[in-house]
Amino acid sequence: MVLKAELHCHVEGAASPRLVEKKAAKYGADVSAIIQGGKFVWHDFTSFLHAYDQASMLFRTEEDYADLAEDYLLSLSRQDAIYSELFISTDHAISAGLDPRAYIEGLAEGMRRAKAATGIEGRLIATGLRHKGPEAVMAAARYIVENPHPLVTGFGMAGDERMHNPKDFSAAFELARDAGLGITVHAGELSGWKSVSDALDALKPSRIGHGVRAIENPDLVRRLADEQILLECCPGSNIALSVYGDFAAHPFANLARAGVPMTLNSDDPPYFHTDLAQEYEIAATYFGYDDEMLKAVTHTALKAAFVDEATRTALLERLYPDKTVRVADELFAGSLSSS
Ligand code: ADE
Ligand code: ZN
Repeated sequence: MVLKAELHCHVEGAASPRLVEKKAAKYGADVSAIIQGGKFVWHDFTSFLHAYDQASMLFRTEEDYADLAEDYLLSLSRQDAIYSELFISTDHAISAGLDPRAYIEGLAEGMRRAKAATGIEGRLIATGLRHKGPEAVMAAARYIVENPHPLVTGFGMAGDERMHNPKDFSAAFELARDAGLGITVHAGELSGWKSVSDALDALKPSRIGHGVRAIENPDLVRRLADEQILLECCPGSNIALSVYGDFAAHPFANLARAGVPMTLNSDDPPYFHTDLAQEYEIAATYFGYDDEMLKAVTHTALKAAFVDEATRTALLERLYPDKTVRVADELFAGSLSSS
């Protein structure tokens, strides 16, 4: 059993079809266009985003979001995860008629319940939606900066990467960074390597969501390794969205061998028929990762997590119960140089 940590999962995208159907029954809504045979239906990125938006409209109260966070974190804990960062979207809350304050309080309550039941630790990353444009992303950043919450420790951007230019969002990211939030941004998923380097130049993230298309430019791969920019990699999502044809063609192992810090994540698990345990399993089956290498992936995630140092140390102590964190770090460095 390998302990796991997840840095990249969208809370709206973590809602299981079963939970969405339960909320649909509560609100008398028809979800037959987006759930069939107990599975979400979509056929490309645009229709995926549509199904995701429709499902999220059924989470309308603080308690709906407490249920969602609790349900997902309990399922992660059953997969031996000890840490979770969830992307949240105040835009989705507002579209569903929910005050962002109630949205965040609901999520925090669900996280408290799951932590009390299992010990799983978690943080939230506020996101703006790229396809909604610079003003909407600035509004999302401004909201979270003006309404800080101890569990919201990062800011990022999701949505359709094919729209707009990273520099259009510089002011929003600067505001978030100046407020002390950790910075991540989706890039190099639907668009190629240039999207990653433009995002690095304009938005200065310490982590990139996906980023796998960086493999198309060796100089950029070297830059990611030199600057130790972590990739929140989601292999199952990449195959489901046809970024790569199959796992054999996926660049995870090559990026890791080049020294880029790599993590495993589920993105929107029920939409992509995956979960965190399956992502670790994919790495074992297709990328040749043994348990020690998988544990190093968890270590990489914890080192880059948007948490205070006391929490990070406590999490690393859970990962290495019989070693000091200093010795664990040395072992980790050794496992990287020998791989
Ligand atoms: N929002 C939810 N999932 C996403 C993905 N895979 N890419 C961009 N935005 C998203
Ligand atoms: Zn994502």
